[in-house]
Amino acid sequence: MLRIGIIGCGRVSSKHINAINNSKYELISICDINESRLSKYKSLKKVKTYSNYNSMILAEKLDVISILTDSGSHEKIINDISGKVKNIIVEKPFTLTTSGAKRIINKCNKDLSRVFVVHQNRLNKTVQKLFELKSQNKLGKIFLISVNLYWSRSEEYYKSDLWRGKWKTDGGVIANQGIHYIDIIQQLLGDPNTIFAEGNTAMNHIETEDTASINFKYKDGCIVNFQLTTGIRPKNMEGSISIFSDKGSLQIGGLALNEIKDINIIDLKLEGSLNTEIKDLYGQGHQIFYNELYDKITQNLNSQFEGKNLVNLIRLINAIYTSIERSSKIYFDSNKNYKTKLGIYESSI
Ligand SMILES: NC(=O)c1ccc[n+]([C@@H]2O[C@H](COP(=O)([O-])OP(=O)(O)OC[C@H]3O[C@@H](n4cnc5c(N)ncnc54)[C@H](O)[C@@H]3O)[C@@H](O)[C@H]2O)c1
Repeated sequence: MLRIGIIGCGRVSSKHINAINNSKYELISICDINESRLSKYKSLKKVKTYSNYNSMILAEKLDVISILTDSGSHEKIINDISGKVKNIIVEKPFTLTTSGAKRIINKCNKDLSRVFVVHQNRLNKTVQKLFELKSQNKLGKIFLISVNLYWSRSEEYYKSDLWRGKWKTDGGVIANQGIHYIDIIQQLLGDPNTIFAEGNTAMNHIETEDTASINFKYKDGCIVNFQLTTGIRPKNMEGSISIFSDKGSLQIGGLALNEIKDINIIDLKLEGSLNTEIKDLYGQGHQIFYNELYDKITQNLNSQFEGKNLVNLIRLINAIYTSIERSSKIYFDSNKNYKTKLGIYESSI
């Protein structure tokens, strides 16, 4: 059994704790600087609680640690833990800057710690099928993809924690919610040749964008358009990817890519249903993520979620913000550190 500890007891923590409790890991300890958030887990049998993660790591011999704190804190916490815990799981986004992601990879390599980033939507049954069909060349030549993320995040949500909707600690709909969908497109098609993006703070009183429209163009001419917003009222509407090719069309939809909405591809028939009921927008992927990672860690195998594989996603996110900041088309360069406000800019409010 792998001994695991958690840092951060906020919104996403119950997904992790449920997944851990339904798998082969042993939950040893939980840490939060916020006493009232920590208190909701104090009744968990045999689980110790801490208010300082350094003390927790010194006291417990953990094989794995999961970092579920605000996005702006990931780099510092990984840096503190590297070398002290062998396997470090961190929630997306891994870091907010490409240089930060590279610093983490170098430090963890040196300290012989492994870092894994939670991108659980890749593991949705629908998305797995999409990757499979693409790798088997069954989708034909894709010429257009339309990604819609029509979600609702209220003013209360943004005000619930100081880090939300800020450049230094979060980013907007692109870096927080849209990153899952941008990741899936990058997995599916690779890096775009060009990017043109627009952002707007339409519905919420936040520093960052809550609404964005992004266009990717690939070398083969394929265009991908993202419509991302957390400004839908009164409630969440859709999280979908529609794919159009010379062989037909395929749409994955539902609230969060959990249903096949339409499939009409020449010579292709899907057996059985891939639809999954979800209780929240985070989906069911955390459980599959923890199960998959258990095997990779215990058998010392490579994982698709290894931090080094996610640096280029952080670069792509920053390239999108560069296009918005400059109001110009960007030729994506996978060797460049795009410096934007993300992870850096601190306003006075
Ligand atoms: N994969 C997903 O679908 C998904 C979903 C939601 C959130 N997330 C990510 O998870 C992270 C957390 O999001 P959330 O909504 O749960 O945030 P949250 O604010 O609800 O929870 C974060 C918790 O971390 C605690 N914390 C902060 N600094 C700490 C420290 N130094 N030591 C101990 N505890 C500390 C805070 O007190 C808070 O309770 C973010 O990076 C977010 O992007 C991912």
